[in-house]
Amino acid sequence: MDNAAIWRAAAKDIFWYQAPTQLLDDSRPPSYRWFPDGVTNACYNALDIHVEQGRGTQTALIYDSPVTTTTRQYTYAELLAKVSQCAGLLVNLGIQKGDRVLIYMPMVPEAVIGMLACARIGAVHAVVFGGFASNELAARIDDAQPAVILSASCGVEPARIVPYKPLLDGAIELAAHAPAHCVILQRPQLPANLVPGRDLDWQGAMSTAVAVPCEPINANDPLYILYTSGTTGQPKGVVRDTGGGIVALKWSMANIYNVKTGDVYWAASDVGWVVGHSYIVYGPLFAGCATVLFEGKPVGTPDPGAFWRVIEAHDVKVLFAAPTALRAIKKEDPDCDYMGQYSVAPLQALFLAGERCDPSTLAWAQANLAVPVIDHWWQTETGWPICANCLGLQAMPVVPGSPGRAVPGYDVQVLDSTGNTAQTEEVGALVIRNPLPPGTFTTLWNAPERFEASYFSRYPGYYETGDAGYIDENGYVFVMSRTDDVINVAGHRLSTGVMEDVLLLDEEVVECAVVGVADALKGQVPLGFLVLNSAATARPDQAVSRAIAHMRNTLGPVAAFRQCTVVQRLPKTRSGKILRSTMRQIADGEPWNMPATIDDPDTLQEIAIALARLGYPRT
Ligand code: COA
Ligand code: AMP
Repeated sequence: MDNAAIWRAAAKDIFWYQAPTQLLDDSRPPSYRWFPDGVTNACYNALDIHVEQGRGTQTALIYDSPVTTTTRQYTYAELLAKVSQCAGLLVNLGIQKGDRVLIYMPMVPEAVIGMLACARIGAVHAVVFGGFASNELAARIDDAQPAVILSASCGVEPARIVPYKPLLDGAIELAAHAPAHCVILQRPQLPANLVPGRDLDWQGAMSTAVAVPCEPINANDPLYILYTSGTTGQPKGVVRDTGGGIVALKWSMANIYNVKTGDVYWAASDVGWVVGHSYIVYGPLFAGCATVLFEGKPVGTPDPGAFWRVIEAHDVKVLFAAPTALRAIKKEDPDCDYMGQYSVAPLQALFLAGERCDPSTLAWAQANLAVPVIDHWWQTETGWPICANCLGLQAMPVVPGSPGRAVPGYDVQVLDSTGNTAQTEEVGALVIRNPLPPGTFTTLWNAPERFEASYFSRYPGYYETGDAGYIDENGYVFVMSRTDDVINVAGHRLSTGVMEDVLLLDEEVVECAVVGVADALKGQVPLGFLVLNSAATARPDQAVSRAIAHMRNTLGPVAAFRQCTVVQRLPKTRSGKILRSTMRQIADGEPWNMPATIDDPDTLQEIAIALARLGYPRT
């Protein structure tokens, strides 16, 4: 089937108030619009349709929270009732179609309810991951300009309670934009003080709200904004449209993940990331599955058997996790003693994404789970997989180190530095020929020029993924590294450029560099180098402690910025460019060449000595 036929057929599989007569508006490249005259609603496709078709008593959402020792299930009818009421709450607060609602919540059912409530009335949700601190939250508040923020009093991490409310209050204080209202879910672990006039208690506001029906939404109207790391301090607000999002995600559930109505699907991610949007909330519900919302970690909640317990307890058919989660389990339970305590028989496939899956983790999972272990490659921007082994179409042999072949709809190519097609197995920029398929991003919020400049200008006619890699003779794609400053820390996408901006806020730091170095558990971790000014009064160890604390308070604990050192100077080219990639190669113990353009070769020797003091290279 050609592309047009695939998407025409897939579009017939969802509910439309007004079915699209046009498949693709390609009149303004690189902006493409799928199903431009269709009218639909994401919440209707996620909930109402299943209840109307007689599946109201089927389980929709399984909340499993080892950190609060809670398990709660919602049927489709129950979830629909909560979501309709929450939508009524938003309407009571004056929210209308197109208004933004920011959601800063831990992994609780109310986060899912809030997202779907927005979709119900055509409000645009912007979910911010709980591991980000006030400054990052403030930047997102200013960009999205939400009229209302949905939040909770606290998050529950294995070793501590995270007070969300002070972080939210701090962010609102920092932001130029002020939301009219915050609706706060009070959690018993740490209730929060509410600001009179601005803050409402979630339960109280829900109790006075009445259910509202779905609003018909134009296919190209935004469903949500999701911020992701860019190379500047200003995060990129990826915009997903409504019609394409529904069509693509529903198609992917059947054709990539091979699940059907009634199956239990679990993406062990967080609603703050794209995986959470696509495969905790929308995809499984569009497909009529039961989705698992897990408030816990692969290890420590309470032990490395947590994933296997959940699979057994809830009959999970497909698990989606990050390789780092498996590495964490493998490290603590290499011989699978904990796994042996549970029956993982319900599991039929394990999908991995977020970072490259190293072959040894892949082999360990294959051997111990005895199900297909599928690495697949995607990004916040695409919203669903670019490359995968499509188990619902025709399963292909797994090739370790590769996330498989291009999924239908994506024409993946490798281009060399001159923009020409690379040879087979030649490493180059991974690009996708325009147009991208339905469900991929349609613009960047408030930044249409940046959308074009960042993704479509370097290689005209193609979307630049920001990843480098190659394609082998069988069409298997290998994703090797980023071409920009993005690093992947425990499956979380972060920018070293943003971290450098944070370090430079210290007046005694005159220059700095942050590189992502290999880490056996988290894949990559950031490592900072500081150059202090001549008037600095801080000792090097004090400057380092200050930098680490500052990063945690400004960017958030999710940055995992724990290693930093003071150096006299940074290695640079004669034109002044910091040689970050050579610094990383030295740290990782990779072979490296003295760059021909280096200004002073001694600077790299100094870096090697500083790294050796930190114990690098580690292999
Ligand atoms: N709210 C507040 N803080 C959070 C948070 C949240 N939602 N999520 C993480 N944090 C904090 C953690 O408490 C930790 O803080 P600490 O420095 O005080 O310990 C810090 O951010 C880093 O968290 P994390 O990345 O989870 O690292 P970890 O060392 O606690 O756990 C793993 C390591 C491998 C178990 C964990 O990173 C993991 O499960 N990774 C999988 C990630 C994933 O699913 N990614 C989605 C892509 S599919
Ligand atoms: P995010 O937008 O947070 O989903 O991060 C997307 C980035 O994570 C990609 O551009 C890749 O760099 C990396 N990534 C995701 N999945 C894979 C994978 N299966 N293999 C290699 N890298 C991956």
